[in-house]
Amino acid sequence: MKQPYIRQEAGPGDVALTVRSRRTMRAFTDEPVSEELVMALLNDAVWAPNHGLREPWRFLFVPSEQKEAFIEHILPGFALEQHEKMRKYLHAQGSAFLIVIMPEDPRPKQWEEDLMASAALIQNFQLLAWERKLGVVWKTNDHNWNPAVRSLLGVQPGEKVTGMLHLGFFEEDQIPEPKRPRTTAEEKTQVFGKTTREGCVQ
Ligand SMILES: Cc1cc2nc3c(=O)[nH]c(=O)nc-3n(C[C@H](O)[C@H](O)[C@H](O)COP(=O)(O)O)c2cc1C
Repeated sequence: MKQPYIRQEAGPGDVALTVRSRRTMRAFTDEPVSEELVMALLNDAVWAPNHGLREPWRFLFVPSEQKEAFIEHILPGFALEQHEKMRKYLHAQGSAFLIVIMPEDPRPKQWEEDLMASAALIQNFQLLAWERKLGVVWKTNDHNWNPAVRSLLGVQPGEKVTGMLHLGFFEEDQIPEPKRPRTTAEEKTQVFGKTTREGCVQ
């Protein structure tokens, strides 16, 4: 089913403020994350740019009430001696999970475009979640490439896990300060035709 293009109730938000203030969250409360909220966020996030309108994504959502069952479901994908460590790690990191999966187009150009579109979708999701005070950490742990874990997640040959997003609400005082300020754009930009100390870029 295709969505209507513009949501009538959408008002102007301060995009720059959201982009700057969003932080990766790694400390969460136990408040459950509902499927309704995640679907609402995703239905906005899927308006990410994607070349050829291939919409190169699908999702596996693990709601809070299924988290324990999910962890036990994927543990057999790990070596036995890792089970306790992984159980604790996954238990501590988030109240729910959203796994973003993309098709791996065999053509390199399309593969790259699809990965970039998938990343744009994830950033849309992170920003939209932030506005609703839902914290996200985008995880690219080794197990996203582990064949046994992939199989337990239902990831098919020819698909790739772009990210496992750990989700949860958070206390304001848990928002981390950025480790350091971002380098300014001016420092990273050469302007064609403009003379700098190093000379003129031609
Ligand atoms: C592609 C990508 C992969 C990431 N993978 C991880 C990860 O595996 N584990 C983690 O703790 N954070 C991960 N992060 C989050 C970054 O560490 C985080 O964005 C960075 O520290 C900057 O912090 P900020 O998001 O609060 O600005 C990832 C971010 C991106 C964009």
